[in-house]
Amino acid sequence: IVLTTACCAVYDYGAYDPTRDDFRPGTFPDGFIWSTATASYQIEGAWNVDGKGESIWDRFSHTPGKVDRGDTGDVACDSYNKYREDVQLMKNMGLKHYRFSLSWPRIFPNGTKEDGVSQDGVNYYNRLIDELIANGIAPMVTLYHWDLPQALQEKYGGWVNEALVGHYHNYATFAFQTFGDRVKYWITFNEPMIVCSLGYASGEHAPGIQDSSSVSSLRCGHTLLKAHARAWHTYNTTFRQLQRGKVGISLSLLWAEPRDPDLPADVQAANRAMQMINEWFARPIFGDGDYPNVIEDTVQKLKLSMELPELSDEDKSLIRGSADFFGVNHYSTRIAADKPSHIQTQSVLESFEMTTAPEWPRGQSDWLFAVPWGLRRLLRYIKEHYGDPDVYITENGWSDGDVQPPILEDTDRVCYYMTYIDEVLKAIEEDQVKVRAYTAWSFMDNFEWARGYTERFGLHYVNFTDPSRPRTPKQSAKFYSDIIANNGFPE
Ligand code: NOJ
Repeated sequence: IVLTTACCAVYDYGAYDPTRDDFRPGTFPDGFIWSTATASYQIEGAWNVDGKGESIWDRFSHTPGKVDRGDTGDVACDSYNKYREDVQLMKNMGLKHYRFSLSWPRIFPNGTKEDGVSQDGVNYYNRLIDELIANGIAPMVTLYHWDLPQALQEKYGGWVNEALVGHYHNYATFAFQTFGDRVKYWITFNEPMIVCSLGYASGEHAPGIQDSSSVSSLRCGHTLLKAHARAWHTYNTTFRQLQRGKVGISLSLLWAEPRDPDLPADVQAANRAMQMINEWFARPIFGDGDYPNVIEDTVQKLKLSMELPELSDEDKSLIRGSADFFGVNHYSTRIAADKPSHIQTQSVLESFEMTTAPEWPRGQSDWLFAVPWGLRRLLRYIKEHYGDPDVYITENGWSDGDVQPPILEDTDRVCYYMTYIDEVLKAIEEDQVKVRAYTAWSFMDNFEWARGYTERFGLHYVNFTDPSRPRTPKQSAKFYSDIIANNGFPE
């Protein structure tokens, strides 16, 4: 907390009212969940060991030109071998929860159970889960954090094909059966919007499909929504009574602030931006079960040239309400302003422009600006728009660069966590948002997708040039562990 003053001095939001950032001390409700997160492809390594099948990210990162510097997840943080050390470091921090993901092709190397289960893969997750529990840490498991079995990509073309609803369902059911005696928090999908838009429209992520028409990404979204809902219903009817866990989904959400809050056109533009970016999955699951208008507009337009799947009434009723909590991955905010030129083109996409303020501190990732008050506003928006759900913040964090000497005194990250976590506290105390969990991304530096190892999000530093991948706690690890020990910022 001594750092407080220093941090507030670093953060100057200029025109974007700095008084909103006043730090306020206080503690979180009893039982509040403090967690950190990782994902299989980003940390495990051992990409072809013990019978693991190839994933779309193995294929993608092995394709020249796809990832910065040609980095791959072949070894990554080597957590496949070093998971015990990871758990000890978590224990040192006083963590009681850990979010990680299962690699589908480590369990079903060819994508389906019928084509073979890898017992070594299952054993790995059993060992990890048991090690966590033995150290008083509850696992929060993401079923899909982007590493689809390559076999399903080849056979079906990936998520554009509704056949994957059934395959995902079998995989999820196997995971509930195998690990659900010990896992009580499940996340079906991590950031479906990113999966579909970067994987099936821009091609920046695996499987690298470029389709500017949006047809592929809309199809992908359709499959993901149905797959998510089916897995939730199976848990609900078959496993819940015995296992007593919770199943949710993690959506990537941005806050859009109107450039001039007194100008109705800007306020409406910010609303359109929020719809475009946030509602694709949020509204079907947590709202009224339908796609937002902007998606429907796009579907209608594209229909001129081809058939797109629509949500039937049955789909809608299966999807609506299919989550025990609303998982939020949030990092940053944008300023939205009206763009009158859209009146000619009638395109929602062209109807707003998004910018940032020059005063906002920027992380190593080009999309990452620290705007803590955006998180509080987003949380209030979720409460108001989606029926006041239980909210689990499943990711939030800050990147710095891969530089020498390593940044172990990571003051920027400390400031980011302090100010963002304080906004969560305000959302709970002042706006009565039911936030139950906060998760820092990430437990350690790891493979940042198309950026490889050039962006570091970790509370622990990982030396990727040393074959033994040593981990070193950064200042932020100590800072976060103090927050956990105090359950917030007591006066
Ligand atoms: C989103 C993703 O879920 C995670 O995999 C990624 O590393 C972080 N946010 C940072 O970009």
